[in-house]
Amino acid sequence: MRRIILDVDTGNDDAVAIMMAGLHPEITLLGCTTVAGNLPVANTTENTLRVLHHIGRSDVPVFRGLASPFAPHPFPTPADFVSSATPVHQEELELLPSPVGVQPHTAVEWLVETLRNATEKITLVPVGPLTNIAAAVTLAPEIVDAVDEIVIMGGSASHGNETSQAEFNIFEDPVAAHVVVNAGFDRLTLVTLDATRKARVSAAQCRELEALGTPGATATAQILDYYIRGNSDKALGSAAVHDALCIAYLLDPSVIETARLHVGVDTVGFHTYGRTLIDLTGIGGTAPNASVALGADSAKFFDLLRSTLAA
Ligand code: BDR
Ligand code: CA
Repeated sequence: MRRIILDVDTGNDDAVAIMMAGLHPEITLLGCTTVAGNLPVANTTENTLRVLHHIGRSDVPVFRGLASPFAPHPFPTPADFVSSATPVHQEELELLPSPVGVQPHTAVEWLVETLRNATEKITLVPVGPLTNIAAAVTLAPEIVDAVDEIVIMGGSASHGNETSQAEFNIFEDPVAAHVVVNAGFDRLTLVTLDATRKARVSAAQCRELEALGTPGATATAQILDYYIRGNSDKALGSAAVHDALCIAYLLDPSVIETARLHVGVDTVGFHTYGRTLIDLTGIGGTAPNASVALGADSAKFFDLLRSTLAA
């Protein structure tokens, strides 16, 4: 049984990750913390509450997190940094509002208190910009000792998806990512775009999910139909469900291929701002500090998704 905290910027692929985590019997979802990223934090919070309500998990508390990056971008935005105009994530997911509201404590307060008081280890799964986690470990560095593993969706050892170099979650708050990577977590797993680009779901697979008829499967099909249409590679008729791969990994680690490597984050480069610096050959001579996912088994991923949503 994994006890996890999911930090999300919901976000269509985040929504699928929440449903997998909320529905799988081998995961105890202690709470969701929200952050600005795909959408402003008011939207990511509302979407998170809706998803949990839809799958009958309004008992999972939701804590609103930070509305802007840990460190503002230092550069005027060059053309290469401009995001796609077509929204990939729905501002408001087409699910009923939850009768349960957001919790009174902020995400960072709750993270610090929960990890300080933990009697069993907790797994942190941030799948948005790392703003909340960076703030929490800055306030209370000792909380890393309560974490058995941090599983981060972010970065790329090849090309980016926000700029030619940088992946969205890291690009949005590179200083936060730098703080988290260097915070002293025992086990840090970085699930990069090189892996998540293999965690694709097609329109045809959405029909398979729809046929399952459960609330989770039906909502996932609808949410991913929209996401596939909005994605920059929509011509493929499928889209990478990045964040859900982190949950699939918790259920079956063999769904990703990892290597022990050193990871840094570029927080100063103009053209490479927010790039994860993954030393693939070890030429830098610095000891590995992360397990980096560089590939994934597409069929296994979809099987885990389908079987979790079927229940
Ligand atoms: C990541 O960026 C966001 O748009 C997705 O939700 C995912 O967490 C992929 O780069
Ligand atoms: Ca996300």
